[in-house]
Amino acid sequence: MSKLVIKDLYVNVDDISIINGLNLEINDGEVHALIGPNGHGKSTLLFTIMGHPRYNVVKGSIYFNGQDVLKMTVDERSKAGMFLAMQNPLEINGVSTIDFLKSALNARRDTPISLYKFVKEFESCSKDVGFNLDMSTRNLNEGFSGGEKKRNEILQMKLLNPLLSLIDEIDSGLDVDGLEMVAKVINSMMDGSFSCLIISHYSKLYKLIKPTHVHIIINGKIVTSGDYSLIEKVDNEGYKWLEKEFNVSINKQENKRVSIGTCNVKESVNNG
Ligand SMILES: Nc1ncnc2c1ncn2[C@@H]1O[C@H](COP(=O)(O)OP(=O)(O)OP(=O)(O)O)[C@@H](O)[C@H]1O
Ligand SMILES: [Mg+2]
Repeated sequence: MSKLVIKDLYVNVDDISIINGLNLEINDGEVHALIGPNGHGKSTLLFTIMGHPRYNVVKGSIYFNGQDVLKMTVDERSKAGMFLAMQNPLEINGVSTIDFLKSALNARRDTPISLYKFVKEFESCSKDVGFNLDMSTRNLNEGFSGGEKKRNEILQMKLLNPLLSLIDEIDSGLDVDGLEMVAKVINSMMDGSFSCLIISHYSKLYKLIKPTHVHIIINGKIVTSGDYSLIEKVDNEGYKWLEKEFNVSINKQENKRVSIGTCNVKESVNNG
């Protein structure tokens, strides 16, 4: 059975259509790379899969291990084994990093983990991802450097041990050692039942975590899929070639939001 099946998905944000008829299937043990130009719906797709309330599914379906994801709450999706490492992790004032991680772990268990076991696991995972233990008592992500936030995302992923990880630009902000650490952690999780969908603009991460499938998203739709060679092609040639080959417009302005400035001008013209 396929793990994640997305069919004919359409997603709006504030009544603007961002995802436009997207199909995707991810099976156990597969690593999918999702690439595409800025602003074409990559993060929107991951937020939608995870259930962010801002993203409104107007058509289509998402199934995870046979369960109708769109009928599940965010915590049900997490408990089912889905995990999102965010492009811009949120800072949460008043919640310490260690309390957050313990609560997240306990929320997925029938009985709470013992403090001793949690501390042991936390220490071991922190060491693996290079997360400084002194930071565990600080507010979640507050004042963390870009790389520290990303290490914290990977720390969460390692502790929660999901079945499907959605990983959004984890490499932005990470130093070279951090990048290698991420690849090592993800590769070590590939036990046959784990799968992931990884977004990155750079081939370096994909060189370390060889994706089994590569998809290019333009205007909220996957226009072509292939193997690792697709990443090499984009790395060498960019995205322009897709316009001709797939009859798409990468920088199209229609359907984009009208700026306040334009409205004001229109109004003053109409009033004048
Ligand atoms: N919450 C939101 N409110 C308004 N617009 C949004 C929101 N989320 C996404 N968008 C818009 O949807 C489009 C797609 O955004 P998204 O973040 O999915 O792009 P992306 O492919 O991840 O880009 P990048 O490579 O720059 O991270 C953009 O035009 C963005 O401004
Ligand atoms: Mg993004």
